[in-house]
Amino acid sequence: MKIFRKVKDLQTCLEQEREAGRHIGFAPTMGALHDGHLELIRMAKRDETFTVASIFVNPTQFNDPKDLEKYPRMPEKDAELLLSVHCDALFMPTVDEVYPPGKDLTLHLDFGALATVMEGEFRPGHFQGMATVVNRLLDIVKPDKLYMGQKDYQQLCIVRNMIGQLQLPVELVMCPTVREADGLAMSSRNLRLTPDMRAAAPIIYASLQALKTEFKKEPAAVVIQKATDRIAGAGLRPEYVEVVNGITLQSVQNWHDAELIVACVAAFAGEIRLIDNLVVKGHA
Ligand code: PAJ
Repeated sequence: MKIFRKVKDLQTCLEQEREAGRHIGFAPTMGALHDGHLELIRMAKRDETFTVASIFVNPTQFNDPKDLEKYPRMPEKDAELLLSVHCDALFMPTVDEVYPPGKDLTLHLDFGALATVMEGEFRPGHFQGMATVVNRLLDIVKPDKLYMGQKDYQQLCIVRNMIGQLQLPVELVMCPTVREADGLAMSSRNLRLTPDMRAAAPIIYASLQALKTEFKKEPAAVVIQKATDRIAGAGLRPEYVEVVNGITLQSVQNWHDAELIVACVAAFAGEIRLIDNLVVKGHA
């Protein structure tokens, strides 16, 4: 696996691969890698792409400076993990390399109601920062396929919308959420859970599964309240539980309101904010 820190060096390598007729697959990450991230790489390799992973803890998408400061960083271990799944190239740029001083690369796209609900409501500026860096990384890597996780469902919808608005020549591939044996969605943030909170956190997925069953018979308002109570009952602090149209991300009331319906949760487990989601109707 080749490791690059400079845009120019990565691009020289990618040009050679393209000339040799290979397609480029790309999985952007913020590091502290786990099996969910590695699954993106496995998918890209199964698609026979020259697979590039990036590790960049993007300062512009953190609305809480403490969260940015405490974001786990373990580049050597990450590189080993990527090597173990035969990733072809790792891009680990500095902040200046991604955001050259003096150049304002901020993306000013209007994502409409997609970006004002759920994470957009509770993490102001987050999606603008996320879209800016994904757009910048896509401009650097110019992949044929972009691999992203269902775990961050709203992020994926916004990236899809961005690709559409900018008409970028890239195919977005969604990777199903990879979970721990007890159902907890894998996340770099799980490392920061206290033992008590780690033991309680699987209630998020358990509540989503219960909601999926209940929603066939009961309206959204009722199943949302039940899920909220379950999560709070286990000692977490739910920030939102939403049942939304999987395309528009707007709330639905009943089972028949949309073909694709997704339930989404954000909850604090102690200091740590966790998110998860489950498709309750249709196929994402
Ligand atoms: P990060 O949280 O590191 O996630 C990188 C990618 O891994 C995202 O596409 C995310 O959805 C996916 N992922 C995370 N946990 C997963 C899991 N348990 N199963 C499947 N996929 C999972 O998301 C970001 O970084 C950043 O916002 C980024 C897109 C890199 C822009 O900075």
